[in-house]
Order: sequence, then C-alpha cells, then structure tokens
Amino acid sequence: MSLKSMSAATHIPVLLNETIEALVVQPGGRYIDCTLGGGGHAAAILERSSPGGQLLGIDADPEAIKIAETRLEAYKDSTLLINENFANLQAICLKYDFLPVHGILFDLGLSSLQLNSNSRGFSFQHDTPLDMRFSPSQEVTAADIINTFSENELAQLIKVYGEEGYSRQIAHHILRERPIKTALHLARVIEQTIGSRRGKIHPATRTFQALRIAVNRELEHLEAALKQAINLLGCEGRLVVISYHSLEDRIVKQLMKQESRGCICLPNTPVCVCGHTACLRLVNKKVITPASTEVQLNPRSRSAKLRAAERITTQEEYYQTTELDIKAGGWRRPALLRKLQVTFSSLQSN
Ligand SMILES: C[S@@+](CC[C@H](N)C(=O)[O-])C[C@H]1O[C@@H](n2cnc3c(N)ncnc32)[C@H](O)[C@@H]1O
Repeated sequence: MSLKSMSAATHIPVLLNETIEALVVQPGGRYIDCTLGGGGHAAAILERSSPGGQLLGIDADPEAIKIAETRLEAYKDSTLLINENFANLQAICLKYDFLPVHGILFDLGLSSLQLNSNSRGFSFQHDTPLDMRFSPSQEVTAADIINTFSENELAQLIKVYGEEGYSRQIAHHILRERPIKTALHLARVIEQTIGSRRGKIHPATRTFQALRIAVNRELEHLEAALKQAINLLGCEGRLVVISYHSLEDRIVKQLMKQESRGCICLPNTPVCVCGHTACLRLVNKKVITPASTEVQLNPRSRSAKLRAAERITTQEEYYQTTELDIKAGGWRRPALLRKLQVTFSSLQSN
C-alpha cells in the first residue's frame, strides 16, 4: 500500500519530527497529547520518552480512544487515555494528579479516520447523516444547525467560521432546500449555488469547516484549553500546537504572543498599569510548515502550521498568589490555585 492510499485508511501524523523536536521529548518526561486521534504523535512521544516516560492522552471521540488503546498497547503501563474534551484539561490533570508536565501537544481538527468515516458526516464526499460531533455525548449536530437556524444566522456562521465570501447566497439556497439531512445533499446545494470548482478546494470546504467549528465549539474550547495548558507546564515545559486553518492559528499566535510579552498596556500608556508578566518564550518566531515532500505524501498536511512556546516562569513564581496576577489574567496559575483553595475550604466547612 502506498503512503498516499494509507492516509485514507489510517491517520498519518503531521509534522511528526518537528513536533517531537519542538516538545523536546526526553526519557522520563511527562507529556500530554490533548488530541490523541489515531495515536501517531503519542506513539512517537512514548518511544522517545522511554524509559520512564508518561503520557496522558485525551480525545473527545470515544472511537479515537479505542483505536489509540490498541496502537499504544505496548506502552499501556505508561499511558493514561481519557475520553474527554480538552476544554476540561486542568480538571483532568488535577483528577489524575498529572502535573506539572514537560510538554503538551494539540494537533487540532479532525483525523483522517473521522474524515473518512461513513457515519460521521464530516466529509462532503460521503452520503452520511450531517452529524459532525466529535463526541456522541454532544447535543447539537450539523443537521440541527442547518435545519433550524434563520437565513441570517446561517449566513453569519458560514461567513465567520468558514471565511466564505458567498455565505449569503449559500444560506439562501439552504433555506429553500430544507430539510437537508446528509453531507452529500448539503454539498450539492453548495455546488449548485457557487459552482462546482473553485481552485483546488471543493466549494463546500468552507461551509463544512464552519459547521464543524460551530458543532464542536472548537474555537472556544481551544482558547480555554491553551490557557489551562500554560498553567500546567513546568518550568521550561513546551506547548506545541498544530493548526489547520487561520481562525485556529490566530488564537494560538495571539495567545503565545501576548504571554511572551511583559507589559500589555495600550501603546502610549505613560506608566504600566496592567502588571502583566511574560510566562512564555516563543520557540519558533516563524511558524513551521511541512516540507513539500511531506505534503506530497500526505496532502492533508498542506495547511498545517506548528507553533511552539516554552514556559519560562520559575517554579517559585509559579506558585505565588498575587492580586496582580489575578487581575492580569484571572486564569494564571495563582488564580487557579486561589479558586481551588476557596472551593476546598468551603467544602471543609460544610
Ligand atoms: C488531527 S487529529 C489528531 C491526530 C493525532 N495527532 C495522530 O497522530 O493520530 C485531532 C483529534 O483531536 C480530537 N479533538 C478535536 N477537538 C477536541 C477537543 N476539544 N477535545 C478533545 N479532543 C478533540 C479529534 O476527535 C481528533 O481525534
């Protein structure tokens, strides 16, 4: 089987060597893979961190957890695989006492296994129900959105999350065609609206991206999880994020940039009033993208962008609780610790 045809059946990890290098994986290290998927990156992390390495793998999709369990069988004593949303990262780590860690990876989006599944509705090439949920425990499906949103709401969603220039026309046509129950039906409606070819991408690509982001609240969860991830890293721990579209990448870039700066007061503020301190160092000033050879072998990797940052705060500063830190971000580690203390003392007094 060629690598190209393999990518349809399995998931080929993207930017694998670059990820391992950016995470500085070392024997005995403790790592979190927040997007376990088929376990490709996780297997490489476990291999490099052996002997003594530990990996916490998280995925919202129970099928991904099952596949990764089989793939990582050889490392079962060093892995903890959890079927959860990474938006709950901090709670998971506290529950399993898995902190601080040497590195945290997010390889965003969906895996080839999900894309090629004939029951999930992620691909416009399959006649499958319009579902698009990462987890069956989520309530809202893509069909719910397509068949209940107003024309204006749909147009906005497709414009903002899909960065689609023809959002109004597509929304208008969707309303005329409702009910739309399958991915193929929706793809046809979009093709009829804006034509069948648009450069290299399928005309439905942007609308499908918008729906997937909305169904899984992807941007919200990403932002929340990145903030928690920073707090879980030990000193010099690495945060590595691979994103696949500009909306995700913007969130990663802005947060890393902000947290690698000291004062974040507005320009021209005469004296610093924010009290913000840097807690990250950018590892790669320029984003890392796959080489053309990787894109040829795995076309799915073509839009990947890897950003990495290192936690720089010392362990001592890390555990200090100051009012300034709480005001500055509200989510910095001291603030989280304060919250936990409060919760704990109220539990004890009950
Ligand atoms: C690109 S795949 C990861 C592939 C993996 N790195 C590998 O090498 O096999 C992304 C995975 O992240 C999961 N995912 C996306 N958003 C998530 C979230 N908010 N919480 C947990 N898992 C999520 C998806 O279910 C999918 O399995």
